[in-house]
Amino acid sequence: MNEKNNLLSIENLTINFGGLRALDDVFLNIAPNQVVSLIGPNGAGKTTLFNAICGLVKPNSGAISFEGKKIKWPKPSQLADYGIARTLQGVGLYSGLTVLENVMMGADKHKNSYFVKDLFGLSAKNEEGLKARAMDALAWAGAADKFELSPSELTYPDSKRVALARALVMQPKLLLLDEPAAGLGQDEIDNLAKLINDLKRTCAVLLVEHHVDFVSNISDQVYVLNFGKVISSGDFETVKRDPAVVAAYLGVDSSTEDGAL
Ligand SMILES: Nc1ncnc2c1ncn2[C@@H]1O[C@H](COP(=O)(O)OP(=O)(O)OP(=O)(O)O)[C@@H](O)[C@H]1O
Ligand SMILES: [Mg+2]
Repeated sequence: MNEKNNLLSIENLTINFGGLRALDDVFLNIAPNQVVSLIGPNGAGKTTLFNAICGLVKPNSGAISFEGKKIKWPKPSQLADYGIARTLQGVGLYSGLTVLENVMMGADKHKNSYFVKDLFGLSAKNEEGLKARAMDALAWAGAADKFELSPSELTYPDSKRVALARALVMQPKLLLLDEPAAGLGQDEIDNLAKLINDLKRTCAVLLVEHHVDFVSNISDQVYVLNFGKVISSGDFETVKRDPAVVAAYLGVDSSTEDGAL
């Protein structure tokens, strides 16, 4: 695909942590409405790449384009302006708010000012509209019946559903998910795969994930990182057979998920 047609495109990204090169000349292309997965052994640089897109790590060099235009590396507070949403690590729901209020907060464009007064400073009409959108997102994520609960009353899988609904309520063009299947049982992983497949109608998804079966079920493109470099990219079946990928996963204990490729 022509680079101009990509929703997000990264070139020549290098990130050093002191003397350690965590990412080395990395590229990444995400087309609209595609699911792209980042895989690779522990320490490969997946989270660092994810964090660079979210503005949590500053690149030493490299270029990023969004919707065909070169942009500055976004700050976390600018993500919503581009239409980029992410689920927060460790779910990150606000304990003092109900599930519905948490999801409504996801629509706040200025994520640095998480004040309840902002939420309730909305005009009644806007608040009703936002409530309806938040309920739609909760229903889609399969947690509509939990809307009045406090986050502390949710099971872990339900809290992940709510976090997903919160990310989606801003109707993003790109959704970033760091290990969305972590800690879920097989039924819940299958359900998440259905939800992500469904999402492709409205947005693109970039995810970091260790569950290889899950990745193979949902990904249009897979990027494999090892020691900070992209060693392979393409559809899952192509990447899986790539000798560079097979070699990278050798030596990893085959009883772990990492070795299951
Ligand atoms: N803030 C940091 N300071 C120093 N080194 C870091 C920092 N963050 C990551 N690293 C190092 O950079 C390399 C890449 O780490 P990263 O967390 O991106 O890997 P990963 O692919 O996400 O691994 P995992 O699968 O274990 O989550 C590792 O060697 C890691 O120790
Ligand atoms: Mg990681």
